[in-house]
Amino acid sequence: MTAVPDRTRLAPGLSIARLVTGLWQVADMEKDGTVLDRGVAAGQLRAYADAGFDSFDMADHYGTAELITGTLFAGYPAGEKRPVAFTKWCPPPGPMTRDIVRAGVHDRLTRLGVERIDLLQFHWWTFEHPAWLDALHEMAALRQEGLIGEIGLTNFDAAHLNVALADGIPVVSNQVSFSLLDRRAAGPLSALCARTGVRLLAYGTLCGGFLSSRWLGQPEPETIGDWSRSKYKRFIDAAGGWPALQAVLAAASSVAQKHGVSISNVASRWILEQPAVAATIIGVRLGEGEHRADNLKVFDFALDDEDHAILDASFAQTSPIPGDCGDEYRRPPFLTATGDLSHHLSTVPSAYRVDEVAGRPGRLRVSSGSVWEPLAGYSRAIRTGKTIHVSGTTATHGTDRCVAPGDPGAQTTYIIDKIAGAIAALGGSLADVVRTRVYLRDVGQWEPVSRAHGRAFGDIRPANTLVQAGSLVGDYAVEIEAEAIVD
Ligand SMILES: NC(=O)c1ccc[n+]([C@@H]2O[C@H](COP(=O)([O-])OP(=O)(O)OC[C@H]3O[C@@H](n4cnc5c(N)ncnc54)[C@H](OP(=O)(O)O)[C@@H]3O)[C@@H](O)[C@H]2O)c1
Repeated sequence: MTAVPDRTRLAPGLSIARLVTGLWQVADMEKDGTVLDRGVAAGQLRAYADAGFDSFDMADHYGTAELITGTLFAGYPAGEKRPVAFTKWCPPPGPMTRDIVRAGVHDRLTRLGVERIDLLQFHWWTFEHPAWLDALHEMAALRQEGLIGEIGLTNFDAAHLNVALADGIPVVSNQVSFSLLDRRAAGPLSALCARTGVRLLAYGTLCGGFLSSRWLGQPEPETIGDWSRSKYKRFIDAAGGWPALQAVLAAASSVAQKHGVSISNVASRWILEQPAVAATIIGVRLGEGEHRADNLKVFDFALDDEDHAILDASFAQTSPIPGDCGDEYRRPPFLTATGDLSHHLSTVPSAYRVDEVAGRPGRLRVSSGSVWEPLAGYSRAIRTGKTIHVSGTTATHGTDRCVAPGDPGAQTTYIIDKIAGAIAALGGSLADVVRTRVYLRDVGQWEPVSRAHGRAFGDIRPANTLVQAGSLVGDYAVEIEAEAIVD
């Protein structure tokens, strides 16, 4: 019998338990405004650490979780190794200046009472706002200063993780939903991890507890109290509803019986055996109950071919969760605790300036801040009536920096976000695009560019032309122009 969770090395000098203790549940327990007693909760957390579950996952918005951990750390005797603290910073999109990023990081340091955050994970609500790259570069600078141990992401899809890496951000991990019901992370994200060495931290592995014997053969609940289960009930509905969950539970139950373990163990084991996964995060409700002894059994068995065949057959009775990792926070179907976030996303300020064109009533133009727009005399985009024309757009970040030099696929992802942001500033969306033209410096590099174009436009299917441009300025490998008609 395994006595403590297995460990893995997330980065040099950062050893973590493969079962991470997740503290989002603190926010749920405090949602009526009554905060947990910090001393008592810190004692309960200490019991996890003492049992080897000594890697905690938190966030800026997980109620008092960071403060509880800070209280626990403050009581650690000098010389005794304290648990590992992961937290997240999820700022509202807007300019990510040095001062703003530093303040966000200092807030985490203060609440945790540490001199260095072991792993700081970054979340960004919409890639149409390009300041996420500024935030990550500032975090990289603070890592050099020693305030951050390692940089992680959360809810990044493969394409944007690739942009971050190609732009030089030293990312070690990406925290994403990954479970028997949500297998998106096994796709392009895992393939990118295999190429780059980035590791996944999986959450939602137990679907808030729905992937346990408690729900096997049970009727669909009419009401759900806690945020975690509210969130994963949406995943269940998107995966084909209650019959789909029951099919997966039945399969996991037969595998569990064979190995003498629980359904939850099978759900966790399947994730831990995924090559890209460093650890799975299991949410805990401090003081309300714990599952440590059961969860430890995950290290006492392995899934064989027969088990995989049984589970795969149940997957065939589910629908894939739409989109790529993190899309549940950014586009329909929103699969979050509170559901639809479109109202929240519509309040995100545009990164681009919109002006009326003098003497041309009803004509609007967008500036993205590139030094070349005023110098060469063009706009990022122009709207006349229902039509929007977007200029040839390169992966210029801010005034004149080329993003992801040497990676045409990453540049294409960045460019399409910029086009989407410019069109949105003029009241349209990517879905309104009727034509794109892609200019490539080296036509031999067409494939990653076409794939990045396909990820954004696969359902929209505008008319498209691909042109070899001969040469583009500097490190630019791709330039794309677009036209949209807003109905
Ligand atoms: N980055 C993000 O966007 C994001 C989003 C969500 C979560 N997370 C992280 O992931 C963590 C995990 O939370 P989650 O919401 O995804 O929930 P989860 O881990 O899928 O489910 C946790 C629940 O499963 C039940 N459980 C645990 N072990 C069990 C076992 N052996 N047998 C039966 N039931 C068991 C417990 O329910 P009972 O307490 O009812 O027994 C527990 O509260 C969070 O705390 C947070 O750190 C991150």
